[in-house]
Amino acid sequence: MITHKKTKNGFAYIEIVNKNACARVALQGAHLFHYRQQDKNPLLWLSEKSFFENDKAIRGGIPICWPWFGKHKTDPDLPQHGFARTSLWTLVETEEPDEFSTELLFQLENSPDTLKLWPHQFKLQLRVMVSSTLQLNLTTKNCSTESFEISSALHSYFAVHDIDTVFIEGLDNCSYFDALTKEIKTQKGNIYIREEIDRVYQNVPPRLTLHDQERSVQIRSQGSSSAVVWNPWIEKSARMGDMIQDAYKNMLCIETANALTDAQNIGPGDDHTVIVIIF
Ligand code: BG6
Repeated sequence: MITHKKTKNGFAYIEIVNKNACARVALQGAHLFHYRQQDKNPLLWLSEKSFFENDKAIRGGIPICWPWFGKHKTDPDLPQHGFARTSLWTLVETEEPDEFSTELLFQLENSPDTLKLWPHQFKLQLRVMVSSTLQLNLTTKNCSTESFEISSALHSYFAVHDIDTVFIEGLDNCSYFDALTKEIKTQKGNIYIREEIDRVYQNVPPRLTLHDQERSVQIRSQGSSSAVVWNPWIEKSARMGDMIQDAYKNMLCIETANALTDAQNIGPGDDHTVIVIIF
């Protein structure tokens, strides 16, 4: 079942319920902010203090960072992580092939507002497939007559039982840019989180696993060879207005990205798709 709903303050979202799972996606940002498989705990973390307000990104779920990841390369006044996550998208297709799966297609196209921030004509589509797995396909189409470059991330916030006991498997020997020290380093073994972490891994394999006390979450990707691992830890989360104290203990971002050397150059009329499948 697909239902159009609104939060108390009028923020529009779509609720999907089928026999395998349920999910919620806000029209602002095509931002999936809830996904729960049948009889299991929510797979994604959502801040209790998240803003559900126009022009403010939701803290949690899977924000879409696009057409640039992180700070804009040349203009620090432009919004961090681009404008897709705070733009109003259109729901263009819905499909319920059977009782167990639901598909939604959201679209964002260039407008006078986007052209002020990024001078390119584009069509951006997000296909959301909700079943016993969650799959997001983000397709960028270049509708202009010149090439453009994008960097992006499907910025997944995973809910974890206790940050002290989780680890990420799959990034052994990958090099990464440490955004905290600005150094390039090489990962040795699994990743354990013991302090603030903010890294962009390069040449990553398409299969990563988040081991939590209660379960292991599989993260599969296509069209992406970079992954961001982020947890703000104590001081940074205290500085962020949309996280309660200690919330950092129950979340970990593992983002399926096209960042740094994995930024994509897309020719006129061409497209690029990045996919994440989570289960
Ligand atoms: C991560 C970045 O992807 O997103 C971090 O690597 C950043 O540096 C984090 O702090 C959250 O960003 P924002 O804009 O949602 O607060």
